Amino acid sequence: MCGIYGFIGDGKVEDLINGLKKLEYRGYDSAGIAFSRNDSLVVEKKTGKVDALRTSVDGKLEEKINAGIAHTRWATHGIPNDINAHPQMDCKKQIAVVHNGIIENFTALREKLISEGHEFISQTDTEVIAHLIEKYFKGDLLEAVRRATIDLEGTYAIGVIHADVKDEIIFARKKSPLVITANEHGSYCASDVTPLISVGRDVVFLEDGQIARLKKGTFEIFEISGKPVEKRFYHVDWDEKAAEKGGYKHFMIKEIHEEPRVISDALMGRVKDEKIFLKEMEDWKDYIKRLRKINIIACGTSYHAGLIFKYFFESLRPFDVEVEVSSEYRYRNVLIDDRVLNVAISQSGETADTLESVRLAKSLGGKVLAISNVMGSTLTREADKTLYINAGPEISVASTKAYIGQMTVLYLLALYIDAVMGGEHPERVKALSKLPELVDNFILTEADAIKAVADKYVGYSNFMYIGRNLNYPSVLEGALKLKEISYTNAVGYQAGELKHGPIALLDEKFPVMAVAVDDDLKDKMLSNILETKARNAHVVAVVSASDQKVSNLVNDVIRVPDVENYLYPFFVGISFQLFAYNVANNRNLNIDMPRNLAKSVTVE
Ligand code: F6R
Repeated sequence: MCGIYGFIGDGKVEDLINGLKKLEYRGYDSAGIAFSRNDSLVVEKKTGKVDALRTSVDGKLEEKINAGIAHTRWATHGIPNDINAHPQMDCKKQIAVVHNGIIENFTALREKLISEGHEFISQTDTEVIAHLIEKYFKGDLLEAVRRATIDLEGTYAIGVIHADVKDEIIFARKKSPLVITANEHGSYCASDVTPLISVGRDVVFLEDGQIARLKKGTFEIFEISGKPVEKRFYHVDWDEKAAEKGGYKHFMIKEIHEEPRVISDALMGRVKDEKIFLKEMEDWKDYIKRLRKINIIACGTSYHAGLIFKYFFESLRPFDVEVEVSSEYRYRNVLIDDRVLNVAISQSGETADTLESVRLAKSLGGKVLAISNVMGSTLTREADKTLYINAGPEISVASTKAYIGQMTVLYLLALYIDAVMGGEHPERVKALSKLPELVDNFILTEADAIKAVADKYVGYSNFMYIGRNLNYPSVLEGALKLKEISYTNAVGYQAGELKHGPIALLDEKFPVMAVAVDDDLKDKMLSNILETKARNAHVVAVVSASDQKVSNLVNDVIRVPDVENYLYPFFVGISFQLFAYNVANNRNLNIDMPRNLAKSVTVE
């Protein structure tokens, strides 16, 4: 959600645009840049995509500049238009500010600044920051920003450039992420590491309340009190190519094809001799033995991965596992003590509601284990421990490979916790290590068949996904995927719930996607499918390769390999990803950047 990029050093206008291009996936509705030229600032802003901004600055792309800041805005205060786009400026047009987050006391600040003679032109909360810095600027930009941030309530990541201060740019953070790196040509700051990989691998994540002063090739970090802070570097080993499409039409389909590799990377070094090794967890063995409950906290797709953990862990042993969406969890009166493990799942590690839930759990004395994809993200720094999924950058807004990576790590975690508690499931560990090959083969052999089914169903505007047990979360995720990238109404239900209401929706225009693989509940699913057929619904069933019973009764099938019950969610998940992708692709939609959505949801 919103993206910030900025640099000081040797560069050109196009570098700002290219930085924004790499942040596009975060979701936005307008874009803008500011850079210094002689003694003034040039600001260019445009509603819509970064390409529109690129076109509007076409003649300037090659212009050499020594500093600039850039922004993609996801509107919160004021509609998306050129005026509300960032950068926002002060009265004298000497200060430009880009901002992610929400300034909660902006109305009071704005009124005060107006009474002091400042003039506002936008509806944004961000504009108050520019005027505040103007108010406090006495020649020292760092000090003016520091002073201004003291007045701000809410959340922010800000980037600031001043026409008269030519050798530095300033960034500050409270709850919205910022990452910094430097090389001999310059210093660079961005909302996440994606635009930085090409310029530096050793990065520093700003902490809450910190301010950074970037000069060409070096940077310093200060606390809000002005006290210098020692920098802590993280090495990022993401492959630069991973942030490119590499011949695929969309990042989403590329990322689905990366899934076999994602599973094997998530397993790497963690499975040996039919045992699970999670070195990160070793010193928690005693704590694990004492656990009475596991709480999973997450949003969206990560929440669905959490639900799968619950069913999988319960298949290993009876145990109390609760899974809750973060936006609910954080406002609940939860009972947490030192025998409860809180597992926070977040691909980005920056989801505001998940972070607040983590803070709640910690404030009540709970321990937090993070499952994340982004090294150094806020979640990983605030949690007591992190298990990384190691999926590489996920660019498509709709999560696919990260979901599969999360499931893999959650299976490992479940087997690990179970083993520490005394369980033994060597056959499951063995099956898990064979998964990359099976998934690779599945995608290779079945992707076209799934596309053919999607082609047939592209004209429908409503879908009902049904499943049971371990495949219930898969139907929620399948329905979410279809909704978000194809804008089609899709609902997911426990198949047993159909007759308690949802079945009223069904007729020949409302197809059903049913998971009826060869597991313990296949016969129950069969009855549910017959119920939907009796209402004239067309049924697409996900069945095991050897199935005949269900296949003969339904309109279309998606075949997944015959595997152990607990492995089906991987294949069902991928089938539904491919189905949604092909429906959306058929409709020529903007698959990687669906309307209204953002990759990193940094506001509540
Ligand atoms: C859907 C999707 C979202 C995210 C959710 C949580 O495809 O990507 O539902 O799963 O916004 O994001 P993270 O995992 O970054 O906390």
